Amino acid sequence: MQIQPPVINIFEKAVRKAGKYLLRDFGEIENLQIQSKGLGDFVTNADLKTEQILTDTLKYYYPEATYITEESGKIIGNEEMIVIDPIDGTTNFIHGIPLVGIVIAKIINEEITDGVIYNPILDDFFWASKGKGSWCNNNRLRVSKRQDIIDCIIGTGIPHMDRIYPQYLKEIDAITKNCSGLRRMGAASIDLAYVAAGKLDAYWERNLNIWDVSAGVLLVKEAGGRVSQPNGESWDIHSKDILVSNSNIHEIIQEKLEII
Ligand code: IPD
Ligand code: CA
Ligand code: CA
Repeated sequence: MQIQPPVINIFEKAVRKAGKYLLRDFGEIENLQIQSKGLGDFVTNADLKTEQILTDTLKYYYPEATYITEESGKIIGNEEMIVIDPIDGTTNFIHGIPLVGIVIAKIINEEITDGVIYNPILDDFFWASKGKGSWCNNNRLRVSKRQDIIDCIIGTGIPHMDRIYPQYLKEIDAITKNCSGLRRMGAASIDLAYVAAGKLDAYWERNLNIWDVSAGVLLVKEAGGRVSQPNGESWDIHSKDILVSNSNIHEIIQEKLEII
């Protein structure tokens, strides 16, 4: 078993603390499904409260860092950058679907060095550090070994905006008829963690933000997977679109997305 680096211990402390709060709210939501009108606010509060717990905990250990958070924006500090998505998969959360991630990553000189994704509902704690592998609940993660796309399950994100929807339909058409099935998890962090864990064989999505994917990108890389943009160009922390895979099926997916 890999000993967790100190930074991961700190991130774990933060996400577990936030996770306890979120779990209570999730229980409430399950009981209050019919009160859909009030749920929007409730969840917004959950997002804000979770982010507050995370930043309060992290600022004690990293008072000088730069923070990029989904809900509060950017707090400029030193070159050590901490990226936070307090609830990735908010829509799942609202609907009582247990696929959510509390995400924290550290980036130095544009390189993601450490990241955690915690699903408090399933109690799955994922972490990765550069050179130290990808882990979930003390188990080492490896991407799948599948070679043939026809045997593969591929994750994706369905766009909400009409603008890119027609292109997306063509992408689905190109991929789904050649694989064993598509999955839409509703949380980009969970898609990426599941590719790292070998549950999904690949995943692509467009129009994402750094807080959605930061920790997950490192998880996939450290689990032996490949990360690029869907057109095969290299992915960096400013990229909006992403394709990750077990490596073996990367080019075939890329080709199918490219011919659209
Ligand atoms: C969303 C989820 C979803 C993805 C969206 C993201 P949020 O994040 O990751 O899977 O398709 O593009 O915005 O809003 O739940 O934090
Ligand atoms: Ca998100
Ligand atoms: Ca979010």
